[in-house]
Amino acid sequence: MNFTEIAKNRQSCRRYDATRAVEEETLQIILEAARLAPSACNGQPYHITVCRGEAAKQVAKATTAMGMNGFAKEAPVLLVLSEEPYVKTAAFGAKVKGNDYRSMDIGIAVAYLTAEATAQGLSTCILGWFDDMAVRKICGLSSPVRLIVTLGYAAADDTLRVKKRKTMDELVSYK
Ligand SMILES: Cc1cc2nc3c(=O)[nH]c(=O)nc-3n(C[C@H](O)[C@H](O)[C@H](O)COP(=O)(O)O)c2cc1C
Repeated sequence: MNFTEIAKNRQSCRRYDATRAVEEETLQIILEAARLAPSACNGQPYHITVCRGEAAKQVAKATTAMGMNGFAKEAPVLLVLSEEPYVKTAAFGAKVKGNDYRSMDIGIAVAYLTAEATAQGLSTCILGWFDDMAVRKICGLSSPVRLIVTLGYAAADDTLRVKKRKTMDELVSYK
């Protein structure tokens, strides 16, 4: 798949084949894509906790408040992205420029790993709705959890949807 094909094929998967595990080798390829992602001052201010088995079930439960994300319990792997401190140069830049580079860096890493997962034939859903303190406790983390990614093989009847997006004119302007 080239990148355009990946972008067209990646979609948030909310129906997984719970009987199909993610192969270790494929998981490592996906994690390597995140490792290669760019970040402000190359600081990579994040950590990824790979949750499988009972840990995955517990993390999935922590994403379900108010009826949200019930599908997460079917995903065999949950990747928990937590925030780490800035490197000194990025901390300086963030302060002087009043910009939140860490969130951007985490978003880019997640974009890389979800794209690689698609290229590998797997499906993902990025979750921003979860109980931070509960997930930290399950994962033994002392820093804030920013995103969780469900990872697995989509159910056989989970077909590609038509993408709803802004029009190009809404999205882009030229000066
Ligand atoms: C930061 C972020 C948080 C998200 N949180 C959730 C979530 O908690 N639950 C969910 O089902 N989808 C969540 N999504 C998925 C979006 O709803 C989805 O990406 C968007 O509607 C576009 O659809 P697509 O991914 O299928 O192309 C999140 C996506 C992002 C980028």
